[in-house]
Amino acid sequence: MRHDALGAAPAAALAYRLADSVTETAQREAGGVRVGILGAGQLGQMLALAGIPLGMRFTFFSPTQSESAEAVGDVVIGEYDDAAALRSFASSVDVVTYEFENVSSDAVTEIEQVCPVWPPRAALVTSQDRGLEKQQFEQLGIPVAPYRLVGSLADLETAVRDVGMPGILKTRRFGYDGKGQTRIAARSEAEAAWNALGPAPLVYEGLVEFERELSVIAVRSRDGTTHCYPVAENRHRDGILRTSLAPADHLTDAKRHQAEGYARALLGAFGYVGVFAIEMFDTAAGLIVNEMAPRVHNSGHWTIEGAETSQFENHVRAVCGLPLGDCAPVGYSAMFNLIGQHPDSARVLAVPDVHLHLYGKSERAGRKLGHVTVRSRSREDLQRHAEALRAIPSIV
Ligand SMILES: Nc1ncnc2c1ncn2[C@@H]1O[C@H](COP(=O)(O)OP(=O)(O)OP(=O)(O)O)[C@@H](O)[C@H]1O
Ligand SMILES: [Mg+2]
Repeated sequence: MRHDALGAAPAAALAYRLADSVTETAQREAGGVRVGILGAGQLGQMLALAGIPLGMRFTFFSPTQSESAEAVGDVVIGEYDDAAALRSFASSVDVVTYEFENVSSDAVTEIEQVCPVWPPRAALVTSQDRGLEKQQFEQLGIPVAPYRLVGSLADLETAVRDVGMPGILKTRRFGYDGKGQTRIAARSEAEAAWNALGPAPLVYEGLVEFERELSVIAVRSRDGTTHCYPVAENRHRDGILRTSLAPADHLTDAKRHQAEGYARALLGAFGYVGVFAIEMFDTAAGLIVNEMAPRVHNSGHWTIEGAETSQFENHVRAVCGLPLGDCAPVGYSAMFNLIGQHPDSARVLAVPDVHLHLYGKSERAGRKLGHVTVRSRSREDLQRHAEALRAIPSIV
């Protein structure tokens, strides 16, 4: 059958069979698939911004009101341990996903009584505990920094002796943006570090001498189809991601294959559905995996303009049982987080190739308020425009 790009092929020939897709019935019945999101921050906002053109509608569940979420959907206020509130939320949507990994697994179990939840609980539970995470990586032969689990000051002293110094003591649970971490450079610092973070389950790991930090973002659909975005290079300051560059420059094919292989192994092991990220250290001795995130990831914000299909669109496609979109890059991208203070929007938008995203949050030290992506046709253009952007106060 021949037809041009705008030609009229018979509808039946074009119709995609959405077997096992939540969209199938929902779309016929009433105004689009209803997606529920646990959490109501900027990741949720960007998921909704990607899903709305696909006919999806969004309801967020969060303990507090959120301007980011309110702008793009309904917000149900409730506590994550309120079973009745969770069930009522779940019964108002067709599928539930989450935008941060500290959702309790009990909350997910509760919702699963009513409707499907993706990504799977096993991935969520593993990502909530740095100890489980490292054990999972090791089981799959994925290299990690030397580490020891720590439950007491005595454990920490042993860990420091075994692993060596300098190292980083981290809480196993609830860390983000470098919070819940402290460095140890001398034995005499162990007790203060334990007092600062303990008593709690902790992990002590050796400080990795890396050349740079990388991340790979992958997406897996319900039928197991898996695609990877180009590896991004990430720069942090004070434990917070500041910039991502994608595709990462000077990455050997061997390392790219390795990174993708790690992501695929983990996605397969979890029977994963949705977008997934792993953070890695690029070292002279090879890649070392730091952590994983069972969700869309800050180092993938560049995909909104810099990839054929953004991580946000691919995540909602995956959780709704739709076919995935192409992850190929479109040009060269650099993403800058806006932290603590808003820049002058007019100055930002005067820079060529720039895309500004503000999340509707008020200013507060250390808070991610938005991001800017520069997406250019050549690395030279990218370099020039990124430099112009960096000259603006409160960027970088
Ligand atoms: N073992 C290590 N060796 C060297 N640097 C490290 C190590 N662990 C963490 N870091 C540095 O601290 C940053 C934050 O650490 P990590 O990603 O483990 O914590 P996080 O609080 O979960 O961060 P986020 O959730 O924002 O990614 C890393 O991106 C890296 O720059
Ligand atoms: Mg991290």
